[in-house]
Amino acid sequence: MRSVLILLFGICVATVLQAQRPPDTTSNQSAAVKEDPAAKKFVRECTSCHTIGAGKLKGPDLITAITWKQEDLAKAVKKMEKEVGAMSDQVVTDLVTLMRDPALKARLAAEEQRLIQSRRALLAPPYASIGHDLFWGARRFQNGGMNCSACHAVNGLGGTLGPDLTPAAKKMGEVALISAVEKAAYKVMEPHYRTRPVTAQEALHLAAYLAQAPLIRANAEFSFHMLAVLAAVGLSGAIVALYAAAGKKQSPSGN
Ligand code: HEC
Ligand code: HEC
Repeated sequence: MRSVLILLFGICVATVLQAQRPPDTTSNQSAAVKEDPAAKKFVRECTSCHTIGAGKLKGPDLITAITWKQEDLAKAVKKMEKEVGAMSDQVVTDLVTLMRDPALKARLAAEEQRLIQSRRALLAPPYASIGHDLFWGARRFQNGGMNCSACHAVNGLGGTLGPDLTPAAKKMGEVALISAVEKAAYKVMEPHYRTRPVTAQEALHLAAYLAQAPLIRANAEFSFHMLAVLAAVGLSGAIVALYAAAGKKQSPSGN
């Protein structure tokens, strides 16, 4: 009887642990894709402030700008030199062509996947739990940078100087999020990390944590339910054991 209970308990614990493991984000590997230089520039340097159809970040959603006339869009892109540094006319033209391409989203998605693959090949796998600890200051950054929760909240908890980052990963995408964190792409953040940059590996862990952030609350509720299941299993096991013990005691005197 005891071994059955231990087995049941083991199964429940394994289920809980399994349920709490971060989703496997490496499974959607695509075959090697050829580099798309304009898309690469856009994904690495523009998506830290802009989405296309997913709402405002630091800069406006570009969903209307991509319908602008060639010259107007080129002017607006050229103005972004104040954010990303000098761009040759060719680079501006290539960006404008990309943005007006009906296949824009597919090109960006393919390039994002390609960048993720090539980056992952150089680094250790991301762990959301390490990202969590870096974010909240339970683990120090290699270069001693400030923990993110000093200025940012996730699910409503944390600092308020910067935006709540619960939706950030979904809005920005992994590559933009990582490069924004690595480069400390925002004015308020930059002085704090200029001499203490977040490493590429740390940025990868943070992105894994933030990608999970919207799920964390649901997950916490789920493990609470699992605790209830465990308690119920334990209780019924105890009852069965009691009956068995009572039965044993009764049998000699009963017969
Ligand atoms: C650090 C943040 C930041 C980065 C990086 C950035 N932008 Fe912007 N962008 C802005 C802001 C803020 C505006 C709003 C108007 C302004 O400042 O000129 C803007 C405006 C624009 C507009 C006009 C959109 C509109 O609806 O008015 C376009 C087009 C644009 N950016 C394209 C780009 C491209 C392409 C890149 C990459 C090469 C880029 N931006 C990089 C912040 C950024
Ligand atoms: C000193 C305060 C401060 C710290 C520390 C800080 N940030 Fe920020 N962060 C900001 C502010 C303020 C903004 C808003 C940018 C703006 O509007 O200029 C921002 C913007 C961002 C954004 C863009 C979000 C959006 O919705 O536009 C991301 C992503 C981000 N921070 C991630 C991080 C991460 C990850 C860390 C920890 C490594 C961190 N930040 C540490 C202040 C900070």
